[in-house]
Amino acid sequence: MRRSMHLVLIVGAAMAVTLLSSTVGAQEEVDGREVFLANCSGCHQGTGLGVTGSFPPLAGNENVQDTAYVKAVIVEGKSGPLDVLGVSYDGAMPAFPDLTAAEIDALVAYIQAGVFIPAETGGLEPGDAARGKDLFTGSDRLENGAPACASCHTAAGFQALNGPALGPDLTDVANRYGGEEAVAAALVSPPSATMQPLFTDNPIADQERADLAAYFASISNVRPSGGPDILLLGGALGAVAMFALMLLAPRSRRMGFARQLRSQR
Ligand code: HEC
Ligand code: HEC
Repeated sequence: MRRSMHLVLIVGAAMAVTLLSSTVGAQEEVDGREVFLANCSGCHQGTGLGVTGSFPPLAGNENVQDTAYVKAVIVEGKSGPLDVLGVSYDGAMPAFPDLTAAEIDALVAYIQAGVFIPAETGGLEPGDAARGKDLFTGSDRLENGAPACASCHTAAGFQALNGPALGPDLTDVANRYGGEEAVAAALVSPPSATMQPLFTDNPIADQERADLAAYFASISNVRPSGGPDILLLGGALGAVAMFALMLLAPRSRRMGFARQLRSQR
């Protein structure tokens, strides 16, 4: 008797908790601006003005008032020729299949309201390509502590010693993105699911973005390297050989000792 009472109480409490948490979940506000800054502003800019010729503006763009169209672009991505406010675009926007329905609703409302970050905060000082190279290779550390680009990327034949690169070669990234300014803009929120978690907490500082973009623009005509640099490869093989020796050395010493023991018996 007692036990069944307890059971009823426990089940009842569990139901109440479930009900409560589901209503709380439904009421939780999604901030469209945050969703925009985390996913879209890297290309379309915090100002919503985009980058002329590369990323179309969303501010002042009538197409964004078509809710079904905007949702389809977000969920499926978009590529192919497009004219916005008299400028031609022919790029590719990735799909964002992981955004929830609530995030998409908030995002679309934010874009349609057209109240973006004011344009004055979008300007960058001209970049320094030499400093950009140092930031890329890791000779200079990124101010906010993110790992050097070269720990995951190659560019213009530069390859770090830690084996095959995790990310794509960036030699021609300035060409593909449509110039220095577009690269600097994209680095606000790097277009990579691998980089996002690392760079959201440790963003690339404004001047660093400009410097890196200047570096990529300066190498954009270098032929991307087909394979690893021969010298670096030599170094890597040397390192592997040293490592093998280190593993073998104590073992052979041990075996020699064993042999000595045996011969003494
Ligand atoms: C990697 C860069 C990039 C990111 C990130 C990006 N876009 Fe785009 N977006 C583009 C490009 C490039 C186009 C133009 C594609 C084409 O030429 O067909 C575009 C087009 C659009 C269009 C169509 C504009 C029109 O006039 O038809 C909308 C709407 C849009 N993006 C919204 C978003 C939203 C919302 C997000 C964030 C969830 C986002 N974009 C993230 C690059 C990007
Ligand atoms: C932890 C590894 C890692 C680090 C560090 C890293 N990236 Fe990436 N990056 C990637 C990966 C992986 C991709 C490919 C997209 C993906 O899979 O997420 C990528 C993609 C990119 C792209 C898009 C490339 C394209 O072809 O469109 C750019 C631009 C980029 N990274 C720039 C940088 C810069 C600049 C730095 C240094 C400030 C950097 N990355 C540091 C892993 C990294």
